[in-house]
Amino acid sequence: MNGVTNALRRVRSGIELLTGCYRSWEELEYFDESWKNRIEEMARFIAPGESVIDLGCGKMWLKPLLKNNIYHPVDYKRRDESTVVANFNRHEYPDIVADVAFLSGTLEYIEDSDWFVRQICSRSKKCVVSYCTTECYPDLKVRNRKAWKSHLSRCGLLELFAKNGMDLDSESGVVAQNPIFVFSKRKGEVPAV
Ligand SMILES: C[S@@+](CC[C@H](N)C(=O)[O-])C[C@H]1O[C@@H](n2cnc3c(N)ncnc32)[C@H](O)[C@@H]1O
Repeated sequence: MNGVTNALRRVRSGIELLTGCYRSWEELEYFDESWKNRIEEMARFIAPGESVIDLGCGKMWLKPLLKNNIYHPVDYKRRDESTVVANFNRHEYPDIVADVAFLSGTLEYIEDSDWFVRQICSRSKKCVVSYCTTECYPDLKVRNRKAWKSHLSRCGLLELFAKNGMDLDSESGVVAQNPIFVFSKRKGEVPAV
C-alpha cells in the first residue's frame, strides 16, 4: 500500500512540476530572491524603533533591513530557532502586540482573510501589506494554480481593513504586479487586546 501511495505521490509531483499547478503553499514552498525588491520597498514604511511582526516570514529577508526594531518572525513552520510557529489556516495567531504587522506575499494564501485581518487589527496599529488584487491577477484559474486562497479586489481589501478600524494611509507602485498598501489605525481606535 505504501508503495502505491508513494508512486501516486510521485506522479502528482510530476504533474505539478509540468503544469505549475499547486493546491497549497505547503506543496509549493518556493522562495524567489526577486521578492527582496518588494520587501525593500515595503520596509521603507517601518520607522526605527517600531516593533514588527512578520506574518509569513519565510526566509526573513526583512530582518537585515531593520534598524533598532524588535522583530517577531511568524510562519506555519519553523524557519529557525526564533520563529513563532502559527498556522493561520488553522486559526492560530500568536499573542503578540506589535506596532507594525508586515505581510509580504502572505495574505494570498490565507483561507479566512476576514478572521486574519481581524487578528492583525486588534494587535497592531499599522499594517504594511503586499497583495495581488483581482485587478492585477483577474484570472481565477491562474490564481488557483498559484494556490492562492483569497481573491480580493483593491476595494475589497480596503473594506476589510476599514471594518476593522484601519484606513489606507498610502499605496505605492506595483512591484512586479504586487501593489503595496499601508494601513493605519483610525484616530481614537486602540488595539482591542
Ligand atoms: C510567498 S511566501 C512570502 C515569504 C516572505 N514574506 C517574503 O516575502 O519573502 C508566503 C509565506 O507565507 C507563509 N504561509 C503560507 N501559508 C501560511 C499559513 N497558513 N500560516 C502561516 N504562514 C503561512 C509561507 O510559509 C511563506 O513563508
